[in-house]
Amino acid sequence: EQISKGKYDHYMQKEIHEQPESLTTTMRGRLIRGGSRKTKTVLLGGLKDHLKTIRRSRRIVFIGCGTSYNAALASRPILEELSGIPVSMEIASDLWDRQGPIYREDTAVFVSQSGETADTLLALDYARENGALCVGITNTVGSSIARKTHCGVHINAGAEIGVASTKAYTSQIVVMVMLALAIGSDTISSQKRREAIIDGLLDLPYKVKEVLKLDDEMKDLAQLLIDEQSLLVFGRGYNYATALEGALKVKEVALMHSEGILAGEMKHGPLALVDENLPIAVIATRDACFSKQQSVIQQLHARKGRLIVMCSKGDAASVSSSGSCRAIEVPQVEDCLQPVINIVPLQLLAYHLTVLRGHNVDQPRNLAKSVTTQ
Ligand code: AGP
Repeated sequence: EQISKGKYDHYMQKEIHEQPESLTTTMRGRLIRGGSRKTKTVLLGGLKDHLKTIRRSRRIVFIGCGTSYNAALASRPILEELSGIPVSMEIASDLWDRQGPIYREDTAVFVSQSGETADTLLALDYARENGALCVGITNTVGSSIARKTHCGVHINAGAEIGVASTKAYTSQIVVMVMLALAIGSDTISSQKRREAIIDGLLDLPYKVKEVLKLDDEMKDLAQLLIDEQSLLVFGRGYNYATALEGALKVKEVALMHSEGILAGEMKHGPLALVDENLPIAVIATRDACFSKQQSVIQQLHARKGRLIVMCSKGDAASVSSSGSCRAIEVPQVEDCLQPVINIVPLQLLAYHLTVLRGHNVDQPRNLAKSVTTQ
Protein backbone atom coordinates (compact mmCIF):
# COMPACT_ATOMS: atom_id res chain seq x y z
CA GLU A 1 0.00 0.00 0.00
CA GLN A 2 2.84 2.40 -0.75
CA ILE A 3 0.61 3.98 -3.37
CA SER A 4 -0.75 7.18 -1.90
CA LYS A 5 -4.45 8.04 -1.77
CA GLY A 6 -3.56 11.56 -2.87
CA LYS A 7 -6.49 13.90 -2.39
CA TYR A 8 -8.91 11.03 -1.79
CA ASP A 9 -10.16 9.54 1.49
CA HIS A 10 -10.15 5.94 0.29
CA TYR A 11 -8.48 3.82 -2.39
CA MET A 12 -11.85 2.79 -3.81
CA GLN A 13 -12.75 6.44 -4.28
CA LYS A 14 -9.38 7.17 -5.90
CA GLU A 15 -9.67 4.16 -8.20
CA ILE A 16 -13.18 5.13 -9.31
CA HIS A 17 -12.02 8.66 -10.13
CA GLU A 18 -8.87 7.62 -11.96
CA GLN A 19 -10.75 5.59 -14.57
CA PRO A 20 -10.28 8.15 -17.37
CA GLU A 21 -6.50 7.68 -16.92
CA SER A 22 -6.54 3.90 -16.36
CA LEU A 23 -8.63 3.41 -19.51
CA THR A 24 -6.22 5.58 -21.49
CA THR A 25 -3.32 3.42 -20.29
CA THR A 26 -5.20 0.24 -21.16
CA MET A 27 -5.62 1.42 -24.77
CA ARG A 28 -2.20 3.04 -25.20
CA GLY A 29 -0.37 1.75 -28.29
CA ARG A 30 -3.13 -0.73 -29.08
CA LEU A 31 -5.40 1.28 -31.40
CA ILE A 32 -3.53 2.08 -34.59
CA ARG A 33 -3.94 2.96 -38.25
CA GLY A 34 -2.70 -0.04 -40.21
CA GLY A 35 -2.85 -2.10 -43.43
CA SER A 36 -2.66 -0.81 -46.98
CA ARG A 37 -5.85 1.25 -46.59
CA LYS A 38 -4.68 2.75 -43.30
CA THR A 39 -7.89 1.78 -41.54
CA LYS A 40 -8.14 1.94 -37.78
CA THR A 41 -7.30 -1.35 -36.21
CA VAL A 42 -6.38 -3.05 -32.95
CA LEU A 43 -2.98 -4.45 -32.12
CA LEU A 44 -2.73 -6.84 -29.18
CA GLY A 45 0.93 -7.90 -29.17
CA GLY A 46 0.44 -10.80 -26.76
CA LEU A 47 -2.06 -12.46 -29.10
CA LYS A 48 -0.64 -11.83 -32.54
CA ASP A 49 0.76 -15.36 -32.99
CA HIS A 50 -2.45 -16.95 -31.76
CA LEU A 51 -5.23 -15.03 -33.51
CA LYS A 52 -5.50 -17.58 -36.33
CA THR A 53 -5.98 -20.41 -33.85
CA ILE A 54 -8.55 -18.39 -31.92
CA ARG A 55 -10.48 -17.65 -35.12
CA ARG A 56 -10.57 -21.37 -35.90
CA SER A 57 -11.91 -22.34 -32.45
CA ARG A 58 -15.31 -24.00 -32.22
CA ARG A 59 -16.13 -22.03 -29.08
CA ILE A 60 -14.74 -19.30 -26.86
CA VAL A 61 -15.26 -19.89 -23.13
CA PHE A 62 -14.89 -17.03 -20.66
CA ILE A 63 -13.85 -18.15 -17.18
CA GLY A 64 -13.57 -15.97 -14.06
CA CYS A 65 -15.01 -15.10 -10.65
CA GLY A 66 -16.87 -12.10 -9.22
CA THR A 67 -16.22 -8.82 -10.97
CA SER A 68 -13.93 -10.43 -13.55
CA TYR A 69 -16.75 -12.78 -14.55
CA ASN A 70 -19.11 -9.80 -14.83
CA ALA A 71 -16.66 -7.97 -17.10
CA ALA A 72 -16.53 -11.00 -19.38
CA LEU A 73 -20.34 -11.18 -19.41
CA ALA A 74 -20.51 -7.51 -20.47
CA SER A 75 -18.20 -8.28 -23.40
CA ARG A 76 -19.88 -11.47 -24.55
CA PRO A 77 -22.38 -9.92 -27.02
CA ILE A 78 -19.75 -7.97 -28.96
CA LEU A 79 -17.43 -10.96 -29.10
CA GLU A 80 -20.26 -13.11 -30.47
CA GLU A 81 -21.16 -10.41 -32.99
CA LEU A 82 -17.68 -9.67 -34.30
CA SER A 83 -16.20 -13.18 -34.16
CA GLY A 84 -19.23 -15.23 -35.21
CA ILE A 85 -17.98 -17.86 -32.75
CA PRO A 86 -20.27 -19.16 -29.96
CA VAL A 87 -19.22 -17.70 -26.61
CA SER A 88 -20.04 -19.43 -23.35
CA MET A 89 -19.59 -18.24 -19.78
CA GLU A 90 -18.22 -20.19 -16.84
CA ILE A 91 -17.86 -19.20 -13.20
CA ALA A 92 -14.52 -20.84 -12.42
CA SER A 93 -15.62 -22.75 -9.32
CA ASP A 94 -18.73 -24.05 -11.07
CA LEU A 95 -16.76 -25.30 -14.09
CA TRP A 96 -14.51 -27.22 -11.72
CA ASP A 97 -17.39 -28.52 -9.55
CA ARG A 98 -19.12 -29.93 -12.64
CA GLN A 99 -15.92 -30.92 -14.39
CA GLY A 100 -17.72 -29.24 -17.31
CA PRO A 101 -16.79 -29.97 -20.91
CA ILE A 102 -13.70 -28.20 -22.28
CA TYR A 103 -12.33 -29.36 -25.63
CA ARG A 104 -9.13 -29.08 -27.67
CA GLU A 105 -11.02 -26.92 -30.18
CA ASP A 106 -11.95 -24.39 -27.47
CA THR A 107 -10.29 -21.10 -26.68
CA ALA A 108 -10.57 -20.60 -22.92
CA VAL A 109 -10.18 -16.98 -21.78
CA PHE A 110 -9.25 -16.54 -18.11
CA VAL A 111 -10.13 -13.15 -16.70
CA SER A 112 -8.60 -12.13 -13.37
CA GLN A 113 -7.45 -8.82 -11.95
CA SER A 114 -4.95 -10.39 -9.55
CA GLY A 115 -4.01 -13.35 -11.71
CA GLU A 116 -3.88 -15.41 -8.51
CA THR A 117 -7.49 -16.41 -7.79
CA ALA A 118 -7.43 -20.06 -6.70
CA ASP A 119 -10.70 -21.07 -8.39
CA THR A 120 -9.63 -19.52 -11.69
CA LEU A 121 -6.20 -21.15 -11.48
CA LEU A 122 -7.74 -24.55 -10.88
CA ALA A 123 -10.01 -24.09 -13.89
CA LEU A 124 -6.94 -23.05 -15.91
CA ASP A 125 -5.06 -26.24 -15.03
CA TYR A 126 -8.17 -28.19 -15.98
CA ALA A 127 -8.57 -26.42 -19.34
CA ARG A 128 -4.89 -26.96 -20.15
CA GLU A 129 -5.19 -30.67 -19.36
CA ASN A 130 -8.14 -30.82 -21.75
CA GLY A 131 -6.07 -29.27 -24.53
CA ALA A 132 -7.79 -25.87 -24.91
CA LEU A 133 -5.86 -22.80 -26.03
CA CYS A 134 -5.67 -20.74 -22.83
CA VAL A 135 -5.66 -16.93 -22.97
CA GLY A 136 -5.10 -14.79 -19.85
CA ILE A 137 -6.49 -11.31 -19.24
CA THR A 138 -4.95 -10.01 -16.03
CA ASN A 139 -3.77 -6.83 -14.38
CA THR A 140 -0.67 -8.39 -12.84
CA VAL A 141 2.44 -8.98 -14.92
CA GLY A 142 4.14 -12.22 -13.87
CA SER A 143 1.07 -13.51 -11.98
CA SER A 144 0.30 -17.25 -11.99
CA ILE A 145 -2.49 -16.86 -14.56
CA ALA A 146 -0.28 -14.70 -16.79
CA ARG A 147 2.46 -17.36 -16.62
CA LYS A 148 0.34 -20.47 -17.02
CA THR A 149 -1.76 -19.33 -20.00
CA HIS A 150 -0.45 -19.81 -23.57
CA CYS A 151 -0.86 -16.13 -24.41
CA GLY A 152 -2.71 -13.09 -23.15
CA VAL A 153 -3.28 -9.40 -22.68
CA HIS A 154 -2.41 -7.26 -19.69
CA ILE A 155 -5.06 -4.70 -18.86
CA ASN A 156 -2.49 -2.17 -17.56
CA ALA A 157 -5.00 -0.52 -15.21
CA GLY A 158 -2.34 0.11 -12.55
CA ALA A 159 -2.35 -1.38 -9.05
CA GLU A 160 -5.83 -1.76 -7.59
CA ILE A 161 -5.81 -1.67 -3.80
CA GLY A 162 -9.46 -1.38 -2.74
CA VAL A 163 -10.96 -4.85 -2.30
CA ALA A 164 -13.88 -3.75 -4.45
CA SER A 165 -12.72 -3.91 -8.05
CA THR A 166 -13.59 -0.75 -9.98
CA LYS A 167 -10.99 0.46 -12.47
CA ALA A 168 -9.95 -3.11 -13.28
CA TYR A 169 -13.56 -3.87 -14.29
CA THR A 170 -13.74 -1.08 -16.85
CA SER A 171 -10.27 -1.87 -18.21
CA GLN A 172 -11.14 -5.56 -18.50
CA ILE A 173 -14.20 -4.69 -20.60
CA VAL A 174 -12.11 -2.45 -22.84
CA VAL A 175 -9.53 -5.22 -23.35
CA MET A 176 -12.25 -7.73 -24.21
CA VAL A 177 -13.85 -5.31 -26.69
CA MET A 178 -10.39 -4.94 -28.24
CA LEU A 179 -10.10 -8.74 -28.29
CA ALA A 180 -13.41 -8.93 -30.19
CA LEU A 181 -12.16 -6.28 -32.64
CA ALA A 182 -8.89 -8.18 -33.17
CA ILE A 183 -10.60 -11.53 -33.76
CA GLY A 184 -13.07 -9.95 -36.18
CA SER A 185 -10.51 -7.77 -37.95
CA ASP A 186 -10.50 -9.76 -41.21
CA THR A 187 -14.28 -9.52 -41.74
CA ILE A 188 -15.01 -6.85 -44.33
CA SER A 189 -18.76 -6.70 -43.65
CA SER A 190 -18.22 -5.45 -40.07
CA GLN A 191 -15.50 -2.92 -40.85
CA LYS A 192 -17.70 0.15 -40.35
CA ARG A 193 -18.98 -1.19 -37.06
CA ARG A 194 -15.42 -1.89 -35.90
CA GLU A 195 -14.27 1.60 -36.85
CA ALA A 196 -17.19 3.14 -34.96
CA ILE A 197 -16.23 1.11 -31.89
CA ILE A 198 -12.59 2.19 -32.17
CA ASP A 199 -13.70 5.84 -32.38
CA GLY A 200 -15.89 5.18 -29.34
CA LEU A 201 -12.95 3.66 -27.46
CA LEU A 202 -10.76 6.68 -28.17
CA ASP A 203 -13.48 8.97 -26.85
CA LEU A 204 -14.33 6.79 -23.84
CA PRO A 205 -11.99 8.39 -21.25
CA TYR A 206 -13.66 11.78 -21.93
CA LYS A 207 -17.12 10.26 -21.51
CA VAL A 208 -16.05 8.61 -18.25
CA LYS A 209 -14.82 12.00 -17.05
CA GLU A 210 -18.27 13.36 -17.84
CA VAL A 211 -20.14 10.60 -15.99
CA LEU A 212 -17.91 11.08 -12.92
CA LYS A 213 -19.57 14.49 -12.54
CA LEU A 214 -22.55 12.59 -11.14
CA ASP A 215 -20.61 12.13 -7.90
CA ASP A 216 -22.70 14.61 -5.87
CA GLU A 217 -25.94 13.29 -7.33
CA MET A 218 -24.99 9.74 -6.33
CA LYS A 219 -24.05 10.93 -2.83
CA ASP A 220 -27.47 12.49 -2.59
CA LEU A 221 -29.09 9.24 -3.72
CA ALA A 222 -26.99 7.28 -1.20
CA GLN A 223 -28.38 9.55 1.52
CA LEU A 224 -31.89 8.55 0.48
CA LEU A 225 -31.05 4.85 0.49
CA ILE A 226 -28.93 4.83 3.64
CA ASP A 227 -31.42 2.87 5.79
CA GLU A 228 -32.71 0.49 3.15
CA GLN A 229 -32.40 -3.27 3.53
CA SER A 230 -32.19 -4.07 -0.14
CA LEU A 231 -31.74 -2.70 -3.66
CA LEU A 232 -32.70 -4.54 -6.84
CA VAL A 233 -30.93 -3.67 -10.09
CA PHE A 234 -32.60 -4.57 -13.40
CA GLY A 235 -30.61 -4.75 -16.64
CA ARG A 236 -30.58 -6.66 -19.91
CA GLY A 237 -28.46 -7.14 -23.01
CA TYR A 238 -25.12 -5.41 -22.64
CA ASN A 239 -26.21 -4.12 -19.26
CA TYR A 240 -27.25 -7.33 -17.57
CA ALA A 241 -23.62 -7.46 -16.46
CA THR A 242 -23.93 -3.87 -15.18
CA ALA A 243 -26.87 -4.96 -12.99
CA LEU A 244 -24.87 -7.87 -11.56
CA GLU A 245 -21.75 -5.78 -11.04
CA GLY A 246 -23.63 -2.80 -9.51
CA ALA A 247 -25.36 -5.16 -7.07
CA LEU A 248 -22.06 -6.88 -6.24
CA LYS A 249 -20.49 -3.51 -5.39
CA VAL A 250 -23.40 -2.51 -3.14
CA LYS A 251 -23.40 -5.77 -1.21
CA GLU A 252 -19.64 -6.16 -0.89
CA VAL A 253 -18.80 -2.71 0.46
CA ALA A 254 -22.06 -1.12 1.66
CA LEU A 255 -23.10 -4.43 3.25
CA MET A 256 -26.63 -3.99 1.92
CA HIS A 257 -28.48 -6.81 0.20
CA SER A 258 -28.60 -6.17 -3.51
CA GLU A 259 -29.46 -8.35 -6.46
CA GLY A 260 -28.80 -7.89 -10.15
CA ILE A 261 -31.73 -9.19 -12.16
CA LEU A 262 -32.07 -9.92 -15.86
CA ALA A 263 -35.05 -7.71 -16.76
CA GLY A 264 -36.37 -10.37 -19.14
CA GLU A 265 -36.84 -12.61 -16.11
CA MET A 266 -38.88 -10.03 -14.18
CA LYS A 267 -42.24 -11.70 -14.80
CA HIS A 268 -40.85 -15.08 -13.86
CA GLY A 269 -40.58 -14.28 -10.15
CA PRO A 270 -38.97 -10.96 -9.13
CA LEU A 271 -42.13 -8.97 -9.96
CA ALA A 272 -43.70 -10.38 -6.78
CA LEU A 273 -41.23 -8.31 -4.72
CA VAL A 274 -42.34 -4.98 -6.18
CA ASP A 275 -44.13 -2.56 -3.87
CA GLU A 276 -43.94 1.13 -2.98
CA ASN A 277 -41.07 0.57 -0.52
CA LEU A 278 -38.38 -1.53 -2.19
CA PRO A 279 -35.95 0.61 -4.20
CA ILE A 280 -35.33 -0.68 -7.73
CA ALA A 281 -32.69 0.63 -10.12
CA VAL A 282 -33.46 0.06 -13.79
CA ILE A 283 -30.78 0.48 -16.44
CA ALA A 284 -32.49 1.81 -19.56
CA THR A 285 -29.88 3.52 -21.70
CA ARG A 286 -30.41 3.58 -25.49
CA ASP A 287 -29.56 0.38 -27.32
CA ALA A 288 -31.44 -2.44 -29.05
CA CYS A 289 -33.13 -3.33 -25.72
CA PHE A 290 -34.40 0.18 -24.94
CA SER A 291 -38.05 -0.32 -25.91
CA LYS A 292 -38.19 -3.52 -23.85
CA GLN A 293 -36.80 -1.65 -20.86
CA GLN A 294 -39.41 1.09 -21.36
CA SER A 295 -42.09 -1.53 -21.05
CA VAL A 296 -40.42 -2.94 -17.89
CA ILE A 297 -40.50 0.58 -16.42
CA GLN A 298 -44.21 0.90 -17.26
CA GLN A 299 -44.96 -2.42 -15.59
CA LEU A 300 -42.99 -1.44 -12.50
CA HIS A 301 -44.74 1.92 -12.38
CA ALA A 302 -48.11 0.17 -12.66
CA ARG A 303 -47.20 -1.72 -9.47
CA LYS A 304 -46.11 1.51 -7.74
CA GLY A 305 -42.45 0.51 -7.79
CA ARG A 306 -39.97 2.94 -6.25
CA LEU A 307 -37.74 3.48 -9.26
CA ILE A 308 -34.33 4.91 -9.98
CA VAL A 309 -33.81 4.84 -13.75
CA MET A 310 -30.44 5.18 -15.44
CA CYS A 311 -31.09 6.57 -18.91
CA SER A 312 -29.28 8.28 -21.79
CA LYS A 313 -28.92 12.09 -21.77
CA GLY A 314 -32.22 13.72 -22.73
CA ASP A 315 -34.38 10.70 -21.83
CA ALA A 316 -35.30 11.65 -18.24
CA ALA A 317 -38.74 12.93 -19.22
CA SER A 318 -39.58 9.93 -21.37
CA VAL A 319 -38.62 7.35 -18.71
CA SER A 320 -40.73 9.23 -16.15
CA SER A 321 -43.76 9.48 -18.40
CA SER A 322 -45.58 6.46 -16.92
CA GLY A 323 -44.93 7.39 -13.26
CA SER A 324 -42.54 9.26 -11.03
CA CYS A 325 -38.97 8.05 -10.72
CA ARG A 326 -35.54 9.42 -10.05
CA ALA A 327 -33.71 9.60 -13.38
CA ILE A 328 -29.94 9.51 -13.69
CA GLU A 329 -28.81 10.68 -17.11
CA VAL A 330 -25.54 9.32 -18.49
CA PRO A 331 -23.68 10.02 -21.74
CA GLN A 332 -24.56 7.69 -24.59
CA VAL A 333 -21.75 5.75 -26.28
CA GLU A 334 -21.50 2.73 -28.61
CA ASP A 335 -23.69 -0.06 -27.22
CA CYS A 336 -20.78 -2.39 -26.39
CA LEU A 337 -19.00 0.40 -24.48
CA GLN A 338 -22.08 1.55 -22.56
CA PRO A 339 -21.38 -0.87 -19.64
CA VAL A 340 -18.15 1.07 -18.97
CA ILE A 341 -20.18 4.28 -18.56
CA ASN A 342 -23.15 2.76 -16.74
CA ILE A 343 -21.18 1.08 -13.97
CA VAL A 344 -19.61 4.36 -12.83
CA PRO A 345 -22.71 5.86 -11.10
CA LEU A 346 -23.29 2.51 -9.38
CA GLN A 347 -19.66 2.41 -8.18
CA LEU A 348 -20.13 5.93 -6.81
CA LEU A 349 -23.42 4.96 -5.18
CA ALA A 350 -21.83 1.91 -3.49
CA TYR A 351 -18.93 4.05 -2.32
CA HIS A 352 -21.09 6.79 -0.78
CA LEU A 353 -23.50 4.29 0.78
CA THR A 354 -20.54 2.61 2.47
CA VAL A 355 -19.16 5.85 3.88
CA LEU A 356 -22.59 7.01 5.05
CA ARG A 357 -23.35 3.65 6.67
CA GLY A 358 -20.00 3.79 8.43
CA HIS A 359 -18.43 0.66 6.98
CA ASN A 360 -14.85 -0.04 5.99
CA VAL A 361 -14.56 0.98 2.33
CA ASP A 362 -11.25 -0.54 1.32
CA GLN A 363 -11.29 -3.67 3.49
CA PRO A 364 -14.87 -4.94 3.74
CA ARG A 365 -15.33 -7.49 6.50
CA ASN A 366 -14.66 -11.15 5.62
CA LEU A 367 -13.20 -10.35 2.18
CA ALA A 368 -9.68 -10.44 0.73
CA LYS A 369 -8.45 -8.65 -2.37
CA SER A 370 -7.13 -11.84 -3.86
CA VAL A 371 -8.89 -15.12 -3.00
CA THR A 372 -6.02 -17.56 -3.05
CA THR A 373 -7.80 -20.39 -1.24
CA GLN A 374 -10.72 -22.48 -2.41
C1 AGP B 1 -14.65 -7.58 -6.77
O1 AGP B 1 -15.10 -6.38 -6.29
C2 AGP B 1 -14.45 -8.63 -5.78
N1 AGP B 1 -13.55 -8.24 -4.79
C3 AGP B 1 -14.27 -10.05 -6.30
O2 AGP B 1 -15.49 -10.44 -6.83
C4 AGP B 1 -13.17 -10.32 -7.35
O3 AGP B 1 -13.50 -9.73 -8.56
C5 AGP B 1 -12.99 -11.83 -7.52
O4 AGP B 1 -12.53 -12.37 -6.30
C6 AGP B 1 -12.05 -12.20 -8.64
O5 AGP B 1 -10.77 -11.68 -8.42
P1 AGP B 1 -9.72 -11.63 -9.59
O6 AGP B 1 -10.23 -10.72 -10.64
O7 AGP B 1 -8.46 -11.14 -8.95
O8 AGP B 1 -9.57 -13.04 -10.11
